[in-house]
Amino acid sequence: MLFESTKDVLNWYQKGDRVITKSFIDGVPWGEIKSHSIDEKFFPVLLYMRDIETMTTRYFDELMKSATGKEPVIRQFMEQWATEEPVHGQLLSRFLEEAGCPQEKDWKQKGFDGLTLSYRLRSKIQEWITLPFGKNFTSVHMTWGAIHEYSTLTGYRRLWELAGHPVLEYILKAVAREEAKHSMFYWSVANINLKESPFRQQLARYLIEKFWKPVGEGVKTQAESNIVIRTLFSGHDGVEQIRTYVNNRIAQLPGFETLTRVTDRISKTALSG
Ligand SMILES: [Fe+2]
Ligand SMILES: [Fe+2]
Repeated sequence: MLFESTKDVLNWYQKGDRVITKSFIDGVPWGEIKSHSIDEKFFPVLLYMRDIETMTTRYFDELMKSATGKEPVIRQFMEQWATEEPVHGQLLSRFLEEAGCPQEKDWKQKGFDGLTLSYRLRSKIQEWITLPFGKNFTSVHMTWGAIHEYSTLTGYRRLWELAGHPVLEYILKAVAREEAKHSMFYWSVANINLKESPFRQQLARYLIEKFWKPVGEGVKTQAESNIVIRTLFSGHDGVEQIRTYVNNRIAQLPGFETLTRVTDRISKTALSG
């Protein structure tokens, strides 16, 4: 699907029915979770995802302060997006509770308090460096967002395939439908923005080559994100999924044709240890 304008992308996004509604949540067979087993090695992955989903609101606040957040189409998208992501966090938290995985009572507050100093510092620096680029920086944000959303989507798919838990699969398939829409939005807006200017292509490519990190790293430590990568993507078939569904999808964007950064970073961890 290719869109002519960012307004068309927004219309497409807003037109679709909401996937995760109250009736969806009420209809999840929560009581059946205990009757199926799940390997505990997936708990750290689910906890990581729970936290990242929940803390997207912090990212939203930051982006709203930038030139990107002042673009009406992006603002309208992000206002809905920022209500969808924390619900994913709540679903994962409820699943963990029903599955018997201990969660600290104040995990949410602790997560926000614990945003590492380096993360806070980086986001401040990011605010400063993005200022002179103004609108040109939107293509960086959108490309970055597309990588994160496609990674998340691929991560969830991989998780339900590996974990083999029917209720988890039921929940994650619904979450994945929303992630697929987010991915499509970011990718499409990035595509339109990048097409307009070789300068934006160079800027976006340069910054992603230099600074991109797997989703959640920065909020979480590199060691924590490596555990998630190893649990979900170890082995050549795991890396192939990243290559096909994330790296090569981004490589379809103008200026990103020769991208290998995403596959390289994941394979470095997934194929070691
Ligand atoms: Fe999400
Ligand atoms: Fe998302």
